[in-house]
Amino acid sequence: MGGAIGQDLPGDAQPGGQRSGVPSLGAGLAPEECQPCIPQQRAYVPSATPETIVFLKNLNWRYATKKMDPTKAVPAELVEQIVEAVRLAPTSSGLQPFELFVITNPDIRAQIEPVAWGQKQITEGSHLLVFAAWDTYTAERIDEVLNLMAEHRGGLTPMLEGYYAKLKTAYVDREAEVNYAHAARQAYIALGFAMAAAAELKVDSTPMEGFHPAAVDKILGLEEKGLRSVVLLPLGYRADEGDWLAPMAKVRKAKADMVTELD
Ligand SMILES: Cc1cc2nc3c(=O)[nH]c(=O)nc-3n(C[C@H](O)[C@H](O)[C@H](O)COP(=O)(O)O)c2cc1C
Repeated sequence: MGGAIGQDLPGDAQPGGQRSGVPSLGAGLAPEECQPCIPQQRAYVPSATPETIVFLKNLNWRYATKKMDPTKAVPAELVEQIVEAVRLAPTSSGLQPFELFVITNPDIRAQIEPVAWGQKQITEGSHLLVFAAWDTYTAERIDEVLNLMAEHRGGLTPMLEGYYAKLKTAYVDREAEVNYAHAARQAYIALGFAMAAAAELKVDSTPMEGFHPAAVDKILGLEEKGLRSVVLLPLGYRADEGDWLAPMAKVRKAKADMVTELD
């Protein structure tokens, strides 16, 4: 088995229509707005699709909302879609080394707000997502993923077992802090997916690193579960008034200042 640790497993691509069954989140633009289309030999392959145009518009629409309207709750079915985006986020070796807490409980959110710089979106939004990463990698945790893979991919093959054996050799005896940092990076990928999905659904969100992780861990009893809080994401709807950031322009570096194209 050839793949180096940290690379994706060979055969990780999922052929077939699994993805096509998921309804597209980005919709609503007429096909003629998708321009320009590049002529190919056999078919027209658009350089941008209506979905990607809407997707980018929605990413431009979203911002780190500073004031949520406490009277507006995000419908459960939209939260479900955002959670599904988290579940679908790719992770190194498919380990998904984090858990997601979806908190509507007002008492728990009221406890978290003061240990999160008093950021009111936590209580004024309707849902608080807490991304909590594994505190380290263990053989049991890795084996659970191995078994899940085997269950869905025709049993334990030598390739599968060999790959995850290598992973255990590389990860299990490593410093817990290094393992946690690796797991937390995977949680950030899911955070990105969640923010993008929320934007597609016109749900507001505020990514937050401004909190005391140890205090949040205590409130949620994460240590006992072998987890550590990484990042928070309140969900809700922007308030009509009182958000200082709402009228401001989105500021991003110019493409030329951050993208190097090597042709
Ligand atoms: C990982 C991360 C942590 C952040 N932490 C906070 C935070 O604690 N409080 C806050 O108001 N904004 C926070 N932000 C928001 C950023 O300041 C904001 O995303 C950035 O300035 C870009 O602006 P925009 O998201 O409004 O487009 C955070 C963003 C990210 C991605």
